[in-house]
Amino acid sequence: MRNTKRGFIVGAAFTSIVTALLLTGCGKPGGGQSAEPDGRPAAAKSTYTIGMSQCNLGEPWRVQMNADVKAAAEKHPAIKMVFKDAQNDTLKQRAHVEEFVSAGVDLIIISPKEAAPLTEPVAKAVDAGIPVIVLDRAVLGDKFTCFIGADNKKIGKAAGEWIKQKLGGKGRVVELKGLMTSIPGQDRNDGFRAGIAGSEIEVIFEADMKWLEPDARKEMESALSRFKKIDLVYAHNDPGAHGAYLAAKAAGREKEMMFVGIDALPQEGVAYVKQGILDATFQYPTGGAEAIETALKILRGEKVPKHITLGSRVFDKSNVDVGGQPLD
Ligand code: FRU
Repeated sequence: MRNTKRGFIVGAAFTSIVTALLLTGCGKPGGGQSAEPDGRPAAAKSTYTIGMSQCNLGEPWRVQMNADVKAAAEKHPAIKMVFKDAQNDTLKQRAHVEEFVSAGVDLIIISPKEAAPLTEPVAKAVDAGIPVIVLDRAVLGDKFTCFIGADNKKIGKAAGEWIKQKLGGKGRVVELKGLMTSIPGQDRNDGFRAGIAGSEIEVIFEADMKWLEPDARKEMESALSRFKKIDLVYAHNDPGAHGAYLAAKAAGREKEMMFVGIDALPQEGVAYVKQGILDATFQYPTGGAEAIETALKILRGEKVPKHITLGSRVFDKSNVDVGGQPLD
């Protein structure tokens, strides 16, 4: 009886040590399957805290991202999510990452407002031994565990090519850019310029609307007052394209031009295409589910790729009813 009990205790202690080693990544890659972060059989920790630093929740797309993360995390009872919203304030977001590090969370997911100022706090978290998944907007350099996002250069280029084709290679375009201190803004601009290269498309007005619909509307009012003829508005996101549409509508000019955006949320951009408000939108997936899937792998000690690139689709009136068309 005594021996059996002792054997059980020794066995349990051994299982805990092995499990702890596997979960902390000391086991060989791929050897962590028996060490589910769901706590089976005798996990080193019964719960894993993941801190999610969101740059803002002002746009539907970011609300959707958090909802996707939450829904994926809820399938794993061992994961406890802690969400922080920086309300579009870079300093606040830096502080949030630092707070997660001091609290000793097991993993951080961050969707940073802009690249340069968030690079250092992310690097410091990695130095403190906390894995960091960077979602959607990149940081600079390579001191993070994994980046997940779609290819914004490719999306921008596809938008440029779509626009070139619809305008017959010629026309006057307004470009409303996303925050140019964030990498998606830079890439959607570069990609677009590559997509229209060699055509007679002229960008007659460009402005940084910082991803925000009210700013886009204001910038578009300036463009409308300066230019009698505008053929198309290319905005780096759907709130931007919608803001431009509202400005043109208020001026009674929305029918004289096309509107193209990016994001393609079913309830936002795709609905706008169906309603004839936007002429096209390019999908930018939130990556929320992939972030949790990757977090679990990291917590199990499995190797994950440094970059995970998500796909995209174009939605226009020719394909919106059949779910859009994947970019090649
Ligand atoms: C939301 C958003 C999206 C855009 C993404 C780029 O804040 O502006 O509309 O696709 O961020 O990071």
